[in-house]
Amino acid sequence: MPSTKQTYLQNLVIETLLNKASAELADVAENPRLEARTLLAFALNKPVTWIIAWPDASIDATAQEQFSTLLTRRRQGEPLAYVTGQKEFWSLPLNVSTATLIPRADTECLVETALQLIQSHPITEVLDLGTGSGAIALALATEVPDLHITATDMSEAALAVARKNASRLNISTVSFLQSDWYSALDGAGVDLIISNPPYIAKGDAHLDEIGLQYEPQQALISGTDGLDDLRAIIGNAPASLRPGGFVAVEHGFDQADAVCELFQRSAFAHPQTVRDYSGNARVSFAQYPA
Ligand SMILES: C[S@@+](CC[C@H](N)C(=O)[O-])C[C@H]1O[C@@H](n2cnc3c(N)ncnc32)[C@H](O)[C@@H]1O
Repeated sequence: MPSTKQTYLQNLVIETLLNKASAELADVAENPRLEARTLLAFALNKPVTWIIAWPDASIDATAQEQFSTLLTRRRQGEPLAYVTGQKEFWSLPLNVSTATLIPRADTECLVETALQLIQSHPITEVLDLGTGSGAIALALATEVPDLHITATDMSEAALAVARKNASRLNISTVSFLQSDWYSALDGAGVDLIISNPPYIAKGDAHLDEIGLQYEPQQALISGTDGLDDLRAIIGNAPASLRPGGFVAVEHGFDQADAVCELFQRSAFAHPQTVRDYSGNARVSFAQYPA
């Protein structure tokens, strides 16, 4: 049994570390205490619950140094997900790297929209364009194990991360393919095309947000109006869709009208827009006539 003094010192060590780290993260983190715990847990290779459950565990000098290195990276503005290489999406623990976008909670709106379409229509073949870490494809595969999903990206480095995520999660129903949008596809039609493409306009003030400069620019920026990739995806979709197939895309909060117009110009019927949990128009989808 440790003496009272040792217990006090050990408690003080962990409390001091977390208090100091939380204060240091105050300028960059929305929830500094939570991030400090996450980084400490990562440095110790333990779950966060362990940090909470064992407040009196002592931390050796090596782990303290590792923690300090991680804290410095985070304090300099690097997103938490890149510091730890991990991000949860749709309750799936995903690996991420600087080759992949960090999956956003907003994108769960696209997954929900796709699931509703899948539940109400005979959809078996799905194409996820610009899969990044594989977030959308893997979420759908988890929910509907008998779907066949092809997930593409033009970045081979992103696809390597996505393939690893699929294998860690034991998901074998997603095929990954390097492709510039539709260019490497074999022309066989699918029932549903989903995509969260780049949709920020070059020079948009949002690109100055802290952390965004760490993310791959080809995952974010899409021409002068932010719509170049949505134009390519929607405009070329009919050639890759089965009759009666759907396209569902994520877009910026102010792009719904423009995206619905793109659907109409390509002869899609009745485009509809879905709002995310923050109330922003986030996803639009439409059906190609049978
Ligand atoms: C906004 S990110 C979305 C990543 C992931 N689907 C998600 O929601 O987290 C857009 C993705 O599209 C990919 N991309 C950009 N241009 C592309 C193109 N011409 N062809 C295929 N993929 C492209 C990027 O590499 C990036 O992974």
